[in-house]
Amino acid sequence: MEKYILIIGACGQIGTELTLTLRERYGNDKVIASDIREGSDSLMNSGPFEILDATNYDTLEEVVAYYDISEVYLMAAMLSATAEKFPMRAWNLNMNSLFNVLNLAKEKKINKIFWPSSIAVFGPNTPKDHTPQHTIMEPSTVYGISKQSGERWCEYYFKKFNVDVRSLRYPGLISWKTMPGGGTTDYAVEIYHKALSQGRYSCFLKKDTMLPMMFMDDAIRATLELMEADTKKIKVRSAYNLAAMSFDPAEMARSIQKHIPDFTIDYTPDFRQDIADSWPKSIDDSDAQKDWDWHPEFDLDRTTETMLENLKS
Ligand SMILES: NC(=O)c1ccc[n+]([C@@H]2O[C@H](COP(=O)([O-])OP(=O)(O)OC[C@H]3O[C@@H](n4cnc5c(N)ncnc54)[C@H](O)[C@@H]3O)[C@@H](O)[C@H]2O)c1
Repeated sequence: MEKYILIIGACGQIGTELTLTLRERYGNDKVIASDIREGSDSLMNSGPFEILDATNYDTLEEVVAYYDISEVYLMAAMLSATAEKFPMRAWNLNMNSLFNVLNLAKEKKINKIFWPSSIAVFGPNTPKDHTPQHTIMEPSTVYGISKQSGERWCEYYFKKFNVDVRSLRYPGLISWKTMPGGGTTDYAVEIYHKALSQGRYSCFLKKDTMLPMMFMDDAIRATLELMEADTKKIKVRSAYNLAAMSFDPAEMARSIQKHIPDFTIDYTPDFRQDIADSWPKSIDDSDAQKDWDWHPEFDLDRTTETMLENLKS
């Protein structure tokens, strides 16, 4: 049977690369991109695109019926830093969009869902090092509360209605094709742009703020591997812990200095420091390794090389 895929929030940092990769894999016309705004030229010119508000169930249902969609990747959300400024808007977007997609699957209008969670589901009382899959969570940010609630609902829809929903707790993601959209780990992308354009960067986190991070290629591969894994292998229906590397801004600066020796960094922490301080330093992703054979490929130095090379050209 032919499979048609809908990406919601396709013009964002992850959605752009996810859409392009899925189009390469399944064919351009099989992957429908959608968002409330238009995206990059490569996204807009490589296949079908619809303006679609994820909080509007009726329009979503129409698009799903029109293209005979069987799989949905829901990437629309308000991220951690922005959500602290607009709590109710963040809650409404993050939860209603998820309910709309879960209900489409419950009604058997689609077969499979990918919905991303985040390391923001963890909070200040969570063990910070090698944070386990199952542990104290108690998120203290609006974004984290919405992601943890989302995880509970995903598991509930799986158990109660047999909805095939799969999810990953992404760490901070580093990419060169699209700028990040208002998260607490955005510094790890901005720093490369500023290193190349100005030779210096003023970081909004303290120099020893260690956080779990991942290069985008690893995140996209993890997403596809999870979605393509045999249903029997998926043991976690809330969201899998996922890890690749952990570092702090000072280590990142040293990695850049290997290529740009004159690069300098200073630190002017803002409100995002509190958010970062509530998150884990490193993640234990042994369940993902065991259940569907997850292995990351990019460490910090390889990420730095790839980022600088692509941003230069
Ligand atoms: N980027 C990261 O480091 C990271 C880490 C952990 C989890 N995540 C999660 O991954 C998902 C995608 O993140 P991202 O970094 O690509 O975010 P982003 O902000 O870059 O992109 C989100 C996209 O959603 C769109 N959007 C906003 N409101 C919408 C609506 N009502 N209907 C349809 N589209 C709407 C935006 O226009 C934007 O293009 C989110 O759920 C996010 O929480 C991201």
